[in-house]
Amino acid sequence: MASQKVLKYLDANQKKHVDQLCEFLRIPSISSQSEYAEDTRKAAKFIADELKDLGLTVETIDLGGHPLVFAQTEIRPDRKTLLFYGHYDVQPVDPLDLWDNPPFEPVVKDGVIYARGACDDKGQVYTHIKALEAYIKQDVELPVNIKFIIEGEEEAGGESIYRFTEQNPEKLACDAIIVSDTALYNETTPGICYSLKGLAYMEIRVSGPAMDLHSGSYGGTVQNPGNALAEMVARLKDSEGRCLVPGFYNDVLELDQEERDGFAELGYTDEILKQETGAPAAFGEAGFTTLERMWARPTCDVNGLVSGYGGEGAKTVLPAKAMAKVSMRLVPNQDPDKIAAAFQEYILSIAPAGVRVEVENLHNANPVLVPRKSEMMTAGMAALEQGFGAKPVFIREGGSIPIVGTFQKCLKSPVLLLGYGLSTDNIHSPNEKFHLNNFWRGARTSAILMSEAAK
Ligand code: BES
Ligand code: MN
Ligand code: MN
Repeated sequence: MASQKVLKYLDANQKKHVDQLCEFLRIPSISSQSEYAEDTRKAAKFIADELKDLGLTVETIDLGGHPLVFAQTEIRPDRKTLLFYGHYDVQPVDPLDLWDNPPFEPVVKDGVIYARGACDDKGQVYTHIKALEAYIKQDVELPVNIKFIIEGEEEAGGESIYRFTEQNPEKLACDAIIVSDTALYNETTPGICYSLKGLAYMEIRVSGPAMDLHSGSYGGTVQNPGNALAEMVARLKDSEGRCLVPGFYNDVLELDQEERDGFAELGYTDEILKQETGAPAAFGEAGFTTLERMWARPTCDVNGLVSGYGGEGAKTVLPAKAMAKVSMRLVPNQDPDKIAAAFQEYILSIAPAGVRVEVENLHNANPVLVPRKSEMMTAGMAALEQGFGAKPVFIREGGSIPIVGTFQKCLKSPVLLLGYGLSTDNIHSPNEKFHLNNFWRGARTSAILMSEAAK
């Protein structure tokens, strides 16, 4: 257990910490939009300054994109080392009119803080910083060495952190990598996440006539890119939700019985899903439960589909172009490059005659699997249990954190995915939020982990 002095500090400074988090959240660090590049840099500086004030050695590393912040306490060889990873960049905010409050003017209401980045990932990163602050301000000797690597390109698919990790594994060397960028199982039950999905993100571009054509004059004479794209998209999946890309399931690591039983015991129901999403029914690959599909089956989904006229009233045109974005979420043992190539080959093979079709692979991420039994897992479980006052359950996650696979490969240290968000916190969506209770319990958990990991 972390010293009472440390936990007391966290309790006594809740208001101050929320005010500081609000200041962090006011910086519009949208990494994918160049007009926010200066603000994104400001968010890096905010983190760097705070860690400097705590007495850490801090480097701001500029590899051409948004800066990385690397920081460390004194590194004593007799102590274990924990490396905390997180990201200070956030997603774009549109559609703006669906926000109840402006995304970068944080509002605290009924114990919930609303702002872009509140949960993903500024609020969660901040739990670790405040946990460390508690040790330092209370003059309690740190049980472990602490390193931070906080990036600003996670939401934009930037390269900086990959290059830095591949070139500086000794700098990041550690006994465990701690990532808080996922969710609790639910409001009362913390989860220890042992798998993240990977990703192959594709764009299909279809073009036909040189310009939009009058749909009466030319209808029936040339292939329509909108129809052609719809035809291909319709062949991505069968009516039972199985992906039709050849070889798609070849490398999938199947769940073992213990995992299936564990999922079933959690008692997740389609009613809960309907409540969380507002969808009229659950749907997905036949032969699997909803939780199995959510956490452990690969998926193939249209993320965007655009062609022709979408405005008010009728406009009679054959569109010149059509475009679709498709994400394939991958599970352990699937290889994003291989899946992207299979997708491309399949789409080109079913492309209707009379249009040009291009397929591009925009973004990949490797899936992640962590052993459920290890000393660090035990430390993580103990910390979550004390921090949240409830026994954690094993969970998986449908989202991706692209750098984690690279950490595993280059640093060869165990990864602990300790998420403090809720799946209903609206990350990437209007009215993103973070429950202060989870912020505080998260900070306690991080503080306790620092002592549990030393054992
Ligand atoms: N924090 C998320 C990952 C995540 C998503 C965790 C959902 C828990 C639930 C991360 O910031 C993220 O958004 N990842 C992207 C990565 C992608 C752009 C490669 C994702 O999953 O879409
Ligand atoms: Mn995130
Ligand atoms: Mn995100």
